[in-house]
Amino acid sequence: GKAGYDHFMLKEIHEQPRALRQCLQGRVDELAGEVTLDIDPDISRVQFVACGTSYHAALYGAALFRAAGVPAQAFLAHEYAIQTPPIEDDLVVAVSQSGETADTLAAIREADRRGADTLALTNVVGSTMARECTDALFIRSGPEIGVAASKTFSAQLTAVNLLALATVGAGDEDVRELIGALRDLPANIQTVLDSSDARSVARDYVDSESFFFIGRGYHHPVALEGALKLKEISYTHAEGFAAGELKHGTLALVTPDTPVFAVVTGDDEAARKTIGNVKEVEARGAPVIAVTDGESDVERYADAVLEVPSTHARTAAVLANVQLQLVAYHIANELGRSIDKPRNLAKSVTVE
Ligand code: M6R
Repeated sequence: GKAGYDHFMLKEIHEQPRALRQCLQGRVDELAGEVTLDIDPDISRVQFVACGTSYHAALYGAALFRAAGVPAQAFLAHEYAIQTPPIEDDLVVAVSQSGETADTLAAIREADRRGADTLALTNVVGSTMARECTDALFIRSGPEIGVAASKTFSAQLTAVNLLALATVGAGDEDVRELIGALRDLPANIQTVLDSSDARSVARDYVDSESFFFIGRGYHHPVALEGALKLKEISYTHAEGFAAGELKHGTLALVTPDTPVFAVVTGDDEAARKTIGNVKEVEARGAPVIAVTDGESDVERYADAVLEVPSTHARTAAVLANVQLQLVAYHIANELGRSIDKPRNLAKSVTVE
């Protein structure tokens, strides 16, 4: 059942601390500063294939591998299946909650036909992808009933961090610090869940007809996911993109009627550049909702703030996404939408 929550989605959003603990369980040795998985693929290059929310996790995953110096790219599975890129020693990783998505299966089968090793990163142990791929890494989220992916996306982000740390490390980053940030993630998500102002933000902006989401680096997939979630369950137009793309076209659409969610954590170059984009939208009168850890001065340009605990940029992306899940949920709820079963959508898309 829904355990007292109005919707499965809200229940699943609240299950995230537990889902992530399960994902991390027995895989992280903090004393040794090591991640161990029961798979040990040889990795020199990586191609990720996925659809929808899982594609956003794939984009994030590819960025982690690139940060470790490993060539990695994410592809939409349906595009990959029809225009397969050259495969040279690539491990092809399918990211799929269900393990049954037809488009992703087609991509994996094509990769297999071309001789690649394949890895299923999935939630479902007996799924077709888990069976057909050379190897499988399970995200261990437990069943997700809501059509909109929530806890499984957070677990995909966590699992792909584990995959990168276990196989290729973290480049210039301090592995122990990253392991610590992953360990802290469940408690930090709990803090977000306990203190989020997403409901009041949702009430303030529920009447808007169009929303934008921007983020840079690890926050780019979060911006894409924030917009997808809002569209999917509230039926409101939303667009997410890399913050730097704003002035290459979309800025023409920015007005006092288009709230902009800006994900800005830390105080590094990426943060400073995104704040530059925030100033551009603020100058056009758009309401700005900053999703931030308070490390930078982005709040000065924001009409509302959704706070996340300070942590590494990689894990901050997970926390920021939780705030955006709550915003999407509360906007959809204010609008009386069918949150767990949005119109026209199925939990698992088993036709190409
Ligand atoms: O089961 P999968 O992860 O392969 O599903 C892929 C997409 O259909 C899925 O993520 C979809 O975008 C979600 N409903 C989004 O919430």
